[in-house]
Amino acid sequence: MNEVKWLDSAVFYEIYPQSFKDTNGDGIGDFRGIAEKLDYIKELGCTAIWMNPCYDSPFLDAGYDVRDYYKAAPRYGTNDDLKALFGEIHRRGMHILLDLVPGHTSWEHEWFRQSCRGERNEFTDRYIWTDNTWEAPEGMNALIGIAERVGACGVNFFSHQPALNYGYYKPKPDKPWQQPTDAPGPKATLEAMKDIMRFWLNMGCDGFRVDMAPSLIKNDEDRKGVIALWQDVRAFLDREFPDAAMVSEWGEPDKSLLGGFHMDFLLHFGPSHYNDLFRCDKPFFGGEGDASEFVKTYKENLAKSGGKGLMCIPSGNHDMIRLAKYLRGDELKMAFAFLMSMPGAPFIYYGDEIGMRYVEGLYSVEGGYERTGSRSPMQWDGTENAGFSTAPADKLYIKLDPSADRPTAQAQMNDPGSLLNEVKKLVSIRAEHKALQSRGDIVFVSAGGPGEPLAYVRSGAGERILVVLNPTDSKVTVAAGGVPDRQIYSLGGTAEANGSDITAEPRSACWYVLR
Ligand code: NOJ
Ligand code: CA
Repeated sequence: MNEVKWLDSAVFYEIYPQSFKDTNGDGIGDFRGIAEKLDYIKELGCTAIWMNPCYDSPFLDAGYDVRDYYKAAPRYGTNDDLKALFGEIHRRGMHILLDLVPGHTSWEHEWFRQSCRGERNEFTDRYIWTDNTWEAPEGMNALIGIAERVGACGVNFFSHQPALNYGYYKPKPDKPWQQPTDAPGPKATLEAMKDIMRFWLNMGCDGFRVDMAPSLIKNDEDRKGVIALWQDVRAFLDREFPDAAMVSEWGEPDKSLLGGFHMDFLLHFGPSHYNDLFRCDKPFFGGEGDASEFVKTYKENLAKSGGKGLMCIPSGNHDMIRLAKYLRGDELKMAFAFLMSMPGAPFIYYGDEIGMRYVEGLYSVEGGYERTGSRSPMQWDGTENAGFSTAPADKLYIKLDPSADRPTAQAQMNDPGSLLNEVKKLVSIRAEHKALQSRGDIVFVSAGGPGEPLAYVRSGAGERILVVLNPTDSKVTVAAGGVPDRQIYSLGGTAEANGSDITAEPRSACWYVLR
């Protein structure tokens, strides 16, 4: 597998295109808007973008319900506009990953319409159908009573997202509709997905974030079937697009990286304990929490995945409650001092860099439900609609944060003490030290148990850097694992070095180069 060198120093920015920047006054973000704001993203220090689905869709799940994989959603622009956006991104030395949704389509997709027909055709086996209208596939919700054909069709997420058929790892003999992964139907589905990847890679995207990557093959408890499927995809990419970068929405790096993904996310679901740090009653960065389970799982994952790829920690994403609901002020800065000093490529969810808040009390928009409040328009400045759009306020995709003191990028640019400037500083220090980047090693020296700091030594390219994050109310001393030499970052007071010990003030963070 190709290494994809640019990932070594990558910092990603996630764009939810609906809410980023509207240029034609229809209240919804668009490709041109993203192009206009690329310099902002570049100045922040991000080197790459992940953009949520931008394909033609009825938008019952914000675009994760694709109607046509080959067509940009008209509300964002044309395929040519998207190609032009790729060009603008590359001109700035940046990269972009599109969002691949291989597990299901919209029920409005032409494949599904054909698949519903009574007469056998090319798409009859494209989705998971049982042979009894009253029997849903085991463990799945299903669409029943909507087709000419006999059978129930399994859905992956919402009811309008029929599951594509990649087969069953262990088909049950008494259920002949469960097809093995090498049956013609499942094989054709996978080839169709490769064609879609070809199309966008040829147009100039640099790879994909893959939605629900572990879910494609059913009855596959240990994920052996789906690991083999992704290895097959990687082999195809290595032959035709060796530089295509892949990140999985999976959360089990030992498995996803074995499947050939370069990167996997540590997520708000799954076993990572990610939420212990940021999103729970007592998040670690709030000062009274406990990071030790996170550290334990992190170390296990690191050992199991054997340096095969990157474990990526996001500040948030379009499915999580905003970081600023649980953390505020310097707590947010400390969370970023963590994110920007961990191995793997960090992902910043748009607006988290200015501490955008979770907007409470919204009705669901496009299948967002409780996620809707994390998807509100980006707050650019103090002008109308926070500079997001010139549409009347009631025409905006999602209501803006109504608070008078809502943060904006513009105000924070002008404030040296702002979160935005802190994040910029952290990203730029990371860019200067290989040890802090994706592939530098990590050794934990304090696991962040109750009342303890989280501290670790990053190393690479002949340098060792100690990171101490002390969100607690007490002064703490940690054994640095080397002699502290030079402080390259501090928050909330300077840490004091004494021999090979470091003493950090309450609610402070520091990055220290060791001799
Ligand atoms: C995960 C995506 O991140 C989420 O937004 C979507 O609703 C589901 N997958 C279904 O595709
Ligand atoms: Ca628009």
